[in-house]
Amino acid sequence: MSFRPIYYSLFVLFVVHSAAADEPVPTPWPEQFHALLVMNKSGSLEVLDLWYDWVNGRNFNIIQKQLGKLTYDLEWNNGTSFYYSLDESRTCRTVHFEVGILRPNWLDGANYLGQQQVNGFLCNVWEKVEFLQYYEDVVTKRPVQWIFHTGREAHVMTFEVGAVLEDEKWQAPVYCFHNEKKMKQSE
Ligand SMILES: *[C@@H]1O[C@H](CO)[C@@H](O)[C@H](O)[C@H]1NC(C)=O
Ligand SMILES: *[C@@H]1O[C@H](CO)[C@@H](O)[C@H](O)[C@H]1NC(C)=O
Repeated sequence: MSFRPIYYSLFVLFVVHSAAADEPVPTPWPEQFHALLVMNKSGSLEVLDLWYDWVNGRNFNIIQKQLGKLTYDLEWNNGTSFYYSLDESRTCRTVHFEVGILRPNWLDGANYLGQQQVNGFLCNVWEKVEFLQYYEDVVTKRPVQWIFHTGREAHVMTFEVGAVLEDEKWQAPVYCFHNEKKMKQSE
């Protein structure tokens, strides 16, 4: 009698495991890449110039809002992010997060949803529960788009594996480092 639950669990494990065995898994992100993304947040459009650099523990989002401001979102793996502009407003906001940048394997454990045709690309689709759906080209394994459950969409326009932004471009401006309190309040 007392063994039954164990046999049952083993059986369930076996079934779940063999079903998962032939499902594709998302390709981990390359440790360094450069991508141009078109973002759409409920009709508000942005071009996002993304430099992902896991090797050096940093991630850069350079964001051009449609006919609007160019803003910089520089994220370090120690949890510190700087949001700033380089125009005459000289604004900078520093935010400390509990977690660092996304790991290359951040999609591990995503649920496979099958294949779907997206803007002319046949994609494998996964869901990262409570977070987003991720679409990867079946042939090239490159990401094509991801859609956050909030409705925000990222469409991948270019994807350069191994591209790295020069070190000096990762320097936040001096006004991020003094009068931090004042700057925080001014945003
Ligand atoms: C952006 O998303 C909205 C829905 O949120 C949609 O109506 C609109 O067509 C999209 N715009 C582009 C350029 O994809
Ligand atoms: C995290 O690293 C950046 C870049 O080296 C640095 O400017 C920042 O002060 C660091 N943050 C903390 C909390 O140590």
